[in-house]
Amino acid sequence: MIRILHLSKAFNGQVVLEDISLEIQKGEILVILGESGTGKSVLLKHMIGLLKPDQGEIYMDSQNITRLSEKDLLKMRKNMGYLFQEGALFDFMNVFENIAFPLREHTRLDRGMIRRKVLDILKVIGLEGVEKKYPSELSGGMKKRVALARAIILDSKILFCDEPTSGLDPIRSRDISDLIRDVSRRLHCTTVVTSHDIQNSFRIADRLALLQKGRIVALGAPQELRNSTDLFIKEFIG
Ligand SMILES: Nc1ncnc2c1ncn2[C@@H]1O[C@H](COP(=O)(O)OP(=O)(O)OP(=O)(O)O)[C@@H](O)[C@H]1O
Ligand SMILES: [Mg+2]
Repeated sequence: MIRILHLSKAFNGQVVLEDISLEIQKGEILVILGESGTGKSVLLKHMIGLLKPDQGEIYMDSQNITRLSEKDLLKMRKNMGYLFQEGALFDFMNVFENIAFPLREHTRLDRGMIRRKVLDILKVIGLEGVEKKYPSELSGGMKKRVALARAIILDSKILFCDEPTSGLDPIRSRDISDLIRDVSRRLHCTTVVTSHDIQNSFRIADRLALLQKGRIVALGAPQELRNSTDLFIKEFIG
């Protein structure tokens, strides 16, 4: 379980997150929705320990991650998969090497095992046969799939996806969203996704949190948010 307590963050005096409290249950898919610039990525980066809050705490199970040293944070991140907004594949590595990278860095698996795991996961993400291609030879949707494969290859129990559908056409967006849901269910991952893709967020989320001006203004299951009479929520979700 992830517990965020009274988290606040400002950059150069500009408040981005203000007194955020949020609990994310084991195995659930939580989508953080909000307009561009509302602090979704900043919130996610706090959960990965890439940013330190000005105030507040974040617990992963019983561990307060805001107090961890850089070394312990690195150890913690081995148990997390994350898909960054920019995708961030290594351009100089082919698909196989990109996906194998965390296994080489963090495990002692031999070459045969690594090969088996990578080829298995290529099947899961529906990209069999592309292992020798380089990122520059892939479409945006394929890159996202490869990045997702790399994020889950260590069998992480926590998965973070920052704007997994940005820059994709509606069909690819739906595909990658469904893939995240399927992978998350299959691996029993606690999954946090940020998005401004309302339709797909409602498809895959167990719960949604709506962020506005640094605060969570709505939190609940898709149906609860759909039934809301709050004007801002109604307008945001259309
Ligand atoms: N490292 C940083 N230093 C200074 N300001 C930052 C930093 N990171 C984010 N910000 C600011 O915090 C605000 C929120 O940024 P964030 O990237 O979290 O938005 P977002 O909700 O993810 O937007 P988008 O939907 O476009 O991805 C922005 O005003 C941004 O300029
Ligand atoms: Mg963002």
